[in-house]
Amino acid sequence: MQSTGKNLKIVVDNLTVSYDDEGPLDAQTILFIHGFPLNKSMWEHQIESLKENYRVIAYDIRGHGSSDAGKENYSIDLFVADLLRFMDTLHITKPILCGLSMGGYIALNAAIKYPEHFAGLVLSDTQCLADSSDAKRKRMNTIENIQEHGVEIYAEVSIKNLFSSESFTKNKKEISQVRDMIVGTTAQSLSYTLFALSERKGTCSKLQDIEIPVLIMVGKEDKITPPVASQLMHEKIQGSQIKVIDHAGHLANLENPVEFNYQLKNFLQQFDEKPLALTLARGLALSGY
Ligand code: MLT
Repeated sequence: MQSTGKNLKIVVDNLTVSYDDEGPLDAQTILFIHGFPLNKSMWEHQIESLKENYRVIAYDIRGHGSSDAGKENYSIDLFVADLLRFMDTLHITKPILCGLSMGGYIALNAAIKYPEHFAGLVLSDTQCLADSSDAKRKRMNTIENIQEHGVEIYAEVSIKNLFSSESFTKNKKEISQVRDMIVGTTAQSLSYTLFALSERKGTCSKLQDIEIPVLIMVGKEDKITPPVASQLMHEKIQGSQIKVIDHAGHLANLENPVEFNYQLKNFLQQFDEKPLALTLARGLALSGY
């Protein structure tokens, strides 16, 4: 019997992965992938809002939250391989991936590499561009600063960029939660992940191959992956939808969960509809054919 609930543990290829799994097991699965340097708890508003009608799963990427860190060097490819192994172990078929920022890099790479494994994509506050040489240099400086001054100071600096100006008065609870998430990540995991982010390849030239439904969301005041980066993805992904979330910076799902969840639920409706063949077959059966 598969268990559901919060903070579950599963061993995937010798790595203990911590995850939440809520909602009906036989419903369409939405699989949430968190941003850097956060953890699965950033999705609590989405899980609460969707769990009545969907199976909602959020997991901690290795080295984050309560998952093991492992011994390998980190890369987006390794995180994608982890995701696929996690899905296999839990027998998750055709989920809709919802990734924010780093979670979006993982979701995009997974959907490009294994298109047949996913039903849809939600890309929040993310981008298809690789790091510029300036961005890479900044990441290396950040790694040095973390080693020298510690994680607490890093958390204070990060928070300034993660939230919209308005959130500093309106979303104090969320800011404090995010601070806890960052401080709960080890200096080693932060450094390994920063290096992986700096080395990631761009995906812009592959976006035209994506054929599944895609929703792109971005906080209007996102300073890290601004709306223009989402617009670029929208132009390249055929049939994609884009929604700019007001009153939000880089963490749109936390800063404006009402609008974020509204757009997410609208997008998800298309997966609730019965497949046409099934509807026709039922119609024919009812009419005696
Ligand atoms: C994130 O939120 O995951 C990071 O800001 C991604 C990045 O720095 O590229």
